[in-house]
Amino acid sequence: MTAPLSQHQTEIQQNLDVWRRKPLLRRIYAQFYEQIQALFDPALQGRIVEIGSGVGNLKSHLPQAVSTDLFPNPWLDVACDGYELPFQPGTISHLILFDVFHHLRAPNAFLREAKRVLARHGRLILFEPYISCCSYPAYEFIHHEPVAWRKRIDLTDLLPRPRDYYAAQGNATRLFFRREKPEWPSGWTVFHTGVLAGFSYLFSGGFSKPALYPAAWLPLMQRCDDFFSRWPRLFGVRCLVGLSPDGV
Ligand SMILES: C[S@@+](CC[C@H](N)C(=O)[O-])C[C@H]1O[C@@H](n2cnc3c(N)ncnc32)[C@H](O)[C@@H]1O
Repeated sequence: MTAPLSQHQTEIQQNLDVWRRKPLLRRIYAQFYEQIQALFDPALQGRIVEIGSGVGNLKSHLPQAVSTDLFPNPWLDVACDGYELPFQPGTISHLILFDVFHHLRAPNAFLREAKRVLARHGRLILFEPYISCCSYPAYEFIHHEPVAWRKRIDLTDLLPRPRDYYAAQGNATRLFFRREKPEWPSGWTVFHTGVLAGFSYLFSGGFSKPALYPAAWLPLMQRCDDFFSRWPRLFGVRCLVGLSPDGV
């Protein structure tokens, strides 16, 4: 996909409007954020930083997190690029990327930078699309970003230059669950991989489509998600990955 990086900012403006007028989405995200928080280690010293905060929605749930993105939007704390973070070495306890990993054309170059800023035993937490039999058609044919299931993933350490808009929704599934490169990521311990059936999310229409069920049905939809999460390869929709750098 070749589009300028500013495509992200166009989407952020659209998402901001949807975030404000779609309470169903805010409730679904609140549950996602709880799952992210469950991977926190409260004993760790340092700041919690979110990369690629977009409309800054995590902040409503976790006000102490430092919100960052490529673009200096007024609701964010810091404007920065995830490949070149403006933080001192070893000062971050938790780095959170929500729907951002699949926008990183060079995941290794990012991991190197993440390792530099994370404190000893610090944690990198990724929340991403999960590609299963059920979610594939939705992500490939309804969502505007490609799944890129068979495209090469650049696992060199080189920074992408120039930066352009990149999206490959299948990357987390391929790397952390299908283990396409079993030795990857070297120098990291993957301490958590989890898959969630997210019909409540898919049928909410997310940021780009109208909801297909009323908000009052959310508890029922979430019970269905819990049940179907037993069969991730069939029904998985979202995934949560926790990593910690070795020897830091
Ligand atoms: C799909 S949006 C997700 C936004 C937000 N985390 C959310 O959950 O709504 C992806 C975000 O990643 C940001 N992004 C993409 N590449 C980035 C990079 N190299 N460094 C920092 N942020 C980046 C984009 O600007 C965009 O806001």
